[in-house]
Amino acid sequence: MKRTTISRRGFLGMLGSGSAAALALGAGLRPTPAAAAPMAQANGSAGFTLPPLPYAYNALEPFIDTATMELHHQRHHGAAVNNLNNALKDYPELRQREISDLLANISQLPEAVRGGVRNAGGSHLNHMIYWATMGPGGGGQPNGALAQAIGSTFGSFDAFKQQLTDLSLRIFGSGWGWLALDRSGKLQLISRPNQDAPVMDGFNVIVGIDMWEHAHYLKYQHRRADYVAAWFNVINWESVGKRFDAANQAL
Ligand SMILES: [Fe+2]
Repeated sequence: MKRTTISRRGFLGMLGSGSAAALALGAGLRPTPAAAAPMAQANGSAGFTLPPLPYAYNALEPFIDTATMELHHQRHHGAAVNNLNNALKDYPELRQREISDLLANISQLPEAVRGGVRNAGGSHLNHMIYWATMGPGGGGQPNGALAQAIGSTFGSFDAFKQQLTDLSLRIFGSGWGWLALDRSGKLQLISRPNQDAPVMDGFNVIVGIDMWEHAHYLKYQHRRADYVAAWFNVINWESVGKRFDAANQAL
């Protein structure tokens, strides 16, 4: 299967195209939602790699601190990439596939690798989306089709913000809070424990917040509500809006 090599373009340009879905269809597998592949990348012989952030580690100050960003990206996300490659060390053909493709079709993978793909692979995908949907100069509100959809689904942006905040703060232990598009094209707020990626259930996530302690503990300690409030100030709504458009086109 020929794969397209995509050079480093930064996260914002890597919002997924139809390529992953087309490849999955060609292989007779479930199509991968386009927006679930935020940074479609060709995996070299070494397998998956940790993409660089599209902004400096200090770019999200004062909302997300530099030390947290460095540790989070280099150590936590980096470890997930290493663990994913280790989990697939005996399956070089799987290391060449998109992570969103593997997760969307996890039930068809060899049983020996499912745990690694679910946990490390889920972490890899979730973090790529997290980095790609934040940025300096963020915050505010979306516009365009996403703004209309949020308004019609939740009543207002403020109501959406409150509901996503509440849902994220209700997560017990580690997990993620997401705004996602379901298979029928309806926006939903969902949470998932650990690193479970919603693409495993057919959801195409639009934007989400990492509620693991490593995402906030250095700066906010137990004050999770302060972290969630800060995160809204660094959301890159332009990037999120593109993900929403791509997800709709993939329906
Ligand atoms: Fe994380």
